[in-house]
Amino acid sequence: MTDLKDTQGAPFMRPVLNDIRHNPGAEMVRYARRRSDIISLASGETDSPTPRFITDAVEGALRDGKTFYGPILGNPDLRQDIADSYQRLHDVTLPQERVIVTSSGTSAIHLSLLSTVEKGDEVVAVFPLWKNLLGAIRLQEATVRGVDLTLDMGSGKWVLDLDRLFAEVTPKTRAIVLNSPNNPTGWVMPLEQMRAVMEFARARGIWVIADEVYERLTYDTQCAPSFLEVAEPEDRLFIINSFSKNWAMTGWRLGWMIGPAQAEPRIYDLVLYDNMGPPNFTQYGAMAALKHGEDFVAEQKTRFRKHEQIVHDALTRIGGIEAVRPESSFYAFFKSHREPDCMSFARRLIDEHGLGLAPGCAFGRNFNGYMRLCFAVSEPRLREALGRLEQALS
Ligand SMILES: Cc1ncc(COP(=O)(O)O)c(C=O)c1O
Repeated sequence: MTDLKDTQGAPFMRPVLNDIRHNPGAEMVRYARRRSDIISLASGETDSPTPRFITDAVEGALRDGKTFYGPILGNPDLRQDIADSYQRLHDVTLPQERVIVTSSGTSAIHLSLLSTVEKGDEVVAVFPLWKNLLGAIRLQEATVRGVDLTLDMGSGKWVLDLDRLFAEVTPKTRAIVLNSPNNPTGWVMPLEQMRAVMEFARARGIWVIADEVYERLTYDTQCAPSFLEVAEPEDRLFIINSFSKNWAMTGWRLGWMIGPAQAEPRIYDLVLYDNMGPPNFTQYGAMAALKHGEDFVAEQKTRFRKHEQIVHDALTRIGGIEAVRPESSFYAFFKSHREPDCMSFARRLIDEHGLGLAPGCAFGRNFNGYMRLCFAVSEPRLREALGRLEQALS
């Protein structure tokens, strides 16, 4: 792919758009389109539809004429429901102005970076990192300094060395970006580490941007810890969250962010000039999800736990695989010693076995060799996909 230039050889569009093009995950999704019989476990979503009690609420809202512009920062009732959910899950009291409903978790990521980071700033991020988080930082023309999670063979867990994280911080660092529970490893940052990061950032006036989209999908606990549990209300902290994963609502494009109350008027301006707020009627579905969706979250967790066991058994049977059992989320992140290059392995899986997986290098260059498999799909599809993987590696 060449950079876009005009006839005089000058950049046609913002040069940063050339920098963000390299996206191995998206490249593989495009590559997979050449086969119609593909089983794709490459994207991060379940194949179950959104439950009826949620879609019913939206049908009702449409019939009630909720088709006009809504409040820029989200329906106040939904903002309150989100605040109430933090009281329930994390014992944290949030005034409504700290809660902002956004048109997706991805949009919340952009708003948090757009409002805090600018050209020339540095952002310290923990890898592996979901590609869109990296892309959003790059779009701000900031430099990314990364530190990798490492595999601790003793505990069989991914771990973060905080000294290494802090060592990456320079006077130019504007924000620390973290994703816990982590896509793709399932790593969950312990509360004590969150406290240490928050104290470190507070002392230096650095923002913490914490993507907690998978916080409900933990396997041994009701919920992962949140940075909000260790933060002061005026801390430079943005929490990113979403309706996508907990309630099978990926296509709805609804999420939220929690920030300091002082940030609310500034985010209002950004949203006003961006899309003038989240869709009006879909937010009624989100309210139903928060009010009546606990059983669905529990059901999903039970199903995903079972699927994780199925994947673990298959990977053990295949052998020659390095993998840590995820503490959360719905991904297996593994490396086969027979396939050291994830891009060529991903292509071979598509070409010869009709199986789509996400290449590990999409989550950071040091994760080449790893593959990410989403096990949130139906059991028959998952078993068929694992059979194909077994064939490919036998
Ligand atoms: C870590 C992480 N954050 C955010 C998102 C996006 O959420 P949304 O669908 O609300 O944009 C994803 C989706 O895969 C994700 O993995």
